[in-house]
Amino acid sequence: MSRPTDLVIVGTGGEGRDLHGIVQAINSRATGDFRWRVLGFVDDYPTEDSEKLVNRLGVPFLGSTGQLADVPPGTHVALGVGRPHLRRETDRTVRRYGLPYATVVHPDANIGADCVFAEGLVAAGGVRLTTNVVLGRHVHLNHNCTIGHDSMLGDFVSVSPLAAVSGHCRLDEGVLVGTTAALVPRVRVGRDTVVGAGACVTRDVPASMVVTGVPARPRRAVEWVDHGGPGAY
Ligand SMILES: CC(C)(COP(=O)(O)OP(=O)(O)OC[C@H]1O[C@@H](n2cnc3c(N)ncnc32)[C@H](O)[C@@H]1OP(=O)(O)O)[C@@H](O)C(=O)NCCC(=O)NCCS
Repeated sequence: MSRPTDLVIVGTGGEGRDLHGIVQAINSRATGDFRWRVLGFVDDYPTEDSEKLVNRLGVPFLGSTGQLADVPPGTHVALGVGRPHLRRETDRTVRRYGLPYATVVHPDANIGADCVFAEGLVAAGGVRLTTNVVLGRHVHLNHNCTIGHDSMLGDFVSVSPLAAVSGHCRLDEGVLVGTTAALVPRVRVGRDTVVGAGACVTRDVPASMVVTGVPARPRRAVEWVDHGGPGAY
């Protein structure tokens, strides 16, 4: 058997630890030679709780992202950061180490014909991409969400559990689609907009808005929450 590929997960929060679960599923169901070896987690903003929870997974917390300077050659990195704008910020920090990004797709995720994705895709169990879908860098697709044919998702888009993006939709960079939200066919959601949990988007939505309800209506402008903030999204 060939040597496993080393991996460091950036982010000790829920998204990072869930990502570790996907990696475990990949390893336990691997039929060929490919496996990941998780060297540990790094995080520039760990909390006491998140460090403890990482240790309970039996994986070391290595320290800040500065530790990426000392990892073995060939080590890959995965961004375990849920909120799109924080993932974008984390990418800016991590990129300077020049390490390759991992693609982490759960064995129970289903990716259809001619779906194209860029580096850093994370897809959890039960995700369904149908056909001719295009995904940008560091798109995160959470448990049991569906992305319909001919849809395009920009860099750093996150789609939450059980959300349904219909065919021919366009989600611009940094969009967050909340849990169980639905998008009807052909709608476009503007950059950095948050679609609230349970919303149904029936019309195009401008950039940097929070929209909620059925049908979805703008609630307010998005306010950025920096790293270490209360985590409103
Ligand atoms: C829409 C959202 C961003 C609003 O956040 P917020 O502006 O901080 O909202 P608050 O929690 O302060 O609530 C403000 C009001 O909006 C209502 N509200 C919040 N989220 C709502 C939603 N998704 N749909 C309808 N109403 C919502 C609240 O009940 C509250 O109403 P009230 O003033 O009558 O009491 C957030 O609630 C949400 O849905 N986020 C999606 C997160 C998600 O699905 N993450 C998945 C991670 S895996």
